[in-house]
Amino acid sequence: MSVPEAGKEERPQAGGGDHLLPVYNRAPVALVRGEGAYVWDDEGRRYLDFAGGIAASVLGHAHPALVSAVADQAARLIHVSNLYEIPLQRRVAERLAELTGLDRFFFCNSGTEATEAAIKLARRWGHQRGVAEPEILTFEGCFHGRTLGSLAATGNPHYAEGFEPLPAGFRQLPWNEAGALAGAVTPSTVAVLLEVIQGEGGLREAAPGFLEAVQAVCRSEGLLLMVDEVQTGMGRTGSWFAYQAAGLEPDVVTLAKGLAGGVPVGAMGVREELAGVLAPGSHGSTFGGNPLAMAAALATLEAIAGQGLVERAREVGARLREGLEALAARHPSLLEVRGRGLMLGIRLAEPPAALIAALRERGLLAVAAAENVVRFLPPLVIGQSEVEAALAILEEALAEADGRLAASRAAAAEAGR
Ligand SMILES: Cc1ncc(COP(=O)(O)O)c(C=O)c1O
Repeated sequence: MSVPEAGKEERPQAGGGDHLLPVYNRAPVALVRGEGAYVWDDEGRRYLDFAGGIAASVLGHAHPALVSAVADQAARLIHVSNLYEIPLQRRVAERLAELTGLDRFFFCNSGTEATEAAIKLARRWGHQRGVAEPEILTFEGCFHGRTLGSLAATGNPHYAEGFEPLPAGFRQLPWNEAGALAGAVTPSTVAVLLEVIQGEGGLREAAPGFLEAVQAVCRSEGLLLMVDEVQTGMGRTGSWFAYQAAGLEPDVVTLAKGLAGGVPVGAMGVREELAGVLAPGSHGSTFGGNPLAMAAALATLEAIAGQGLVERAREVGARLREGLEALAARHPSLLEVRGRGLMLGIRLAEPPAALIAALRERGLLAVAAAENVVRFLPPLVIGQSEVEAALAILEEALAEADGRLAASRAAAAEAGR
């Protein structure tokens, strides 16, 4: 029997009973159709999708090129396994090599699997260099996924609680403290894993000079620099990959989310020097890089490039950011605007749930992050009219949030009297 969350309306079951594990706090909305930046629920209500499948739906919904690539490939060959050559996988890898500057790619099905591949690669690389217990350094506030290795890399008790023991060999350092990293490297340290902008951690950007300092330590200490581009990649932040704008030259990059426009695909890219670390049989995936997923990835990569969506994310993102800054000036409940490109968010004076529900009721979908951040991760195809529509809805919902803030301040003043 499930207990409804406090304050959450119960939605009648649309058939299918109650047989799902209750691991998600789902909004009481069943989305059944999408087109461009919009989705519709099963009652015909339309929503502007600034949740974007948590940064996966880069092309929006029902993008004709992605739809026909998936449909054509499904009719031809969905899956064969990596026991055989998959020409489409080679083509996607070649395209990613051009875009990233990396040389070799491994395909999997999700972000956390991409992290696991990076962890295994770093550990093997360490063992091959005589390190008996290789250690990977990550940063407080990071998020790299929910499988056990990724959880250990994430190191946040909020996600890890109850799943101990986590694998050893990870240490989290303070974010944005370059000095802490320089002093933390030991003979066992083999790699540093980071997000250029911490997404789930609340859109926390690196302080000026921090990432360069991390890269310098990696170079001087001979550590692998591994960048998690699962959320920031595929044009989201206004460059193909966020590390490019940050001037980093990573040894390992992980991708997922937007890589195939919502079809599940993950990937790890590495430099040529690391190509031999994971020998045949040392790692693999039944579904990873299958023809259906690769057709979707190729179509997505072509559409992003062909439609100029990276530039668009930068330009439209700048306009959205401007609008958010203007709202911040008018609404005391909006404390700070964060992020870059179309990976934007607002830090609130309250937990994000109430504002997210108020936005949804007005037809705008958004995503929570950390304790008090609301993220906007719309498809990269949005334009000025969607930006304006979203800002108008946000303005109304923020007026309510201002009211809650004023009431709680008045109550606190009353209590303190
Ligand atoms: C930066 C980052 N890495 C890894 C992951 C895990 O990806 P997935 O949920 O596809 O396993 C996420 C998911 O939010 C992420 O934001």
